[in-house]
Amino acid sequence: MERAVRIAIAGLGRLGRRHADIFRWRVRGAELVAACSPVAEERAWAQQELGLAHVVAGFDELVALPDVDAVVIVTPTSLHADQAIAALEAGKHVFCEKPLALEVADCARVEAVAARRPAQKVLVGFVRRFDPSYAAAMAKIREGAIGRPYLVRSQTLDQNDPSGFFVKFAPTSGGIFLDMSIHDIDCARWLLDGPRAKRVYASGIIAIHEGLAECGDVDNGVATIEFHGGQLAVLTASRTLTWGMEATTEVFGTAGRLAIGQDLKRGGLDIADQHGARIEGLANFWDRFADAFAVEAQTFVDAVRGDAELPLTLADAAENTRIGRAISDAYRTGRAVDL
Ligand code: NAI
Repeated sequence: MERAVRIAIAGLGRLGRRHADIFRWRVRGAELVAACSPVAEERAWAQQELGLAHVVAGFDELVALPDVDAVVIVTPTSLHADQAIAALEAGKHVFCEKPLALEVADCARVEAVAARRPAQKVLVGFVRRFDPSYAAAMAKIREGAIGRPYLVRSQTLDQNDPSGFFVKFAPTSGGIFLDMSIHDIDCARWLLDGPRAKRVYASGIIAIHEGLAECGDVDNGVATIEFHGGQLAVLTASRTLTWGMEATTEVFGTAGRLAIGQDLKRGGLDIADQHGARIEGLANFWDRFADAFAVEAQTFVDAVRGDAELPLTLADAAENTRIGRAISDAYRTGRAVDL
C-alpha cells in the first residue's frame, strides 16, 4: 500500500485514548480518520483532541465508513469477537486488544472468518511481545544463552485502585486470569517456543475487593500450567499492590536464567521526605509499556502496508484464551483442568 493506512478506532476509554494518540501522532504510514464510542463525552474528546472527520456513536456506522482500511478495537472484551468479525466482513484489517474473546468458540468464529480473508491482517494486542526487554530476552533464548528453557515464572501485579474500577470492569473482563494472566500465558508460550498446554491448576483470594465475589472473580490469583513436553509456567496476578505496577518474568533454562523487567518496575524518580529516601513505583501498565504499544501499532501498520510479518497469529490468541479459560475453570472448581 503506497498511501497511509486509514485507521478507525472503536472504544475511547482507559486504553482506547492512548491507542488513539499513538495512531494519531506516533505511527509512520498511518492516518487516524475515525472513532466511535457510545459515550458523548468520549466522542467530544475525539473531536476536540484528535480533530477527526468522523466521530460516531455506533460500531456498525464505523465499519461501514468506506474510507477506512483498518479498525482498532479497544472496547470491552465481551464485544471483541463480534466486532472483529463485523470489521473483517466489511473488508477491514483488524487490530484487536487482548483477549480476542472470553470463549474459545468465539475465537474460533473469528479465526474462521479471517481464514476466508487471508489478504486482511489481524493482530491481537499481546503487547509484551513488542516490549524491548521481552524482545531482548527472546533474542538471548534464540542464541542459546540459557540453554533449553523449561520454566517460566511470570507476574502481572497492578496497583490497587480504591475507586473499585475493577469491580465494575469484572463482568465484561472475564476475571483476573483471562484479563491479566493472559499476558503471562502468552509470554510463557512464546518464551518456551510454543508448547501445547496439558493441564492447569489455580487458586485465588479476595484480599480487598469483596464486590468481585458476585461474578466469581478474585483480586489475587496464582496459576500453574503444565505443558506437553514437561515445561512449566507459574503465574501470579494481583490487583492490590500499594506501591505501583509490576510486570516481570523469569525464564529458567538448562544453562542459565533470564529475569525480564526487574529493573523497570520502578518509576526512576528518587524521592526523600519525612518517610525516608526511596524510589517511586510505576503507576500503571501505561508507564511500563508505552513504548511497546507504539512498536505494536507500528508493526501492525507496517504489516498492512506489506512491509512486515505479524509476530503472532490468531491461533496464538485463541490458544491464550483456551488456557486462560481453563485456569478460570480450575479456580472455580478447585480442581486441575486437563486441556
Ligand atoms: P474501558 O472500559 O476504559 O473502555 C472501553 C471503551 O469502549 C469505552 O470508551 C466505551 O465507551 C467503549 N465502548 C463500549 N461499548 C462500545 C461499543 N458497542 N462500541 C464501541 N465502543 C464501545 O476499558 P479499557 O480498560 O480501555 O479496556 C478496553 C480493552 O483493552 C479490554 O479488552 C482490555 O482487556 C484491553 N486492555 C489491554 C491492556 C493491555 O495491556 N494490552 C491494558 C488495558 C486494557
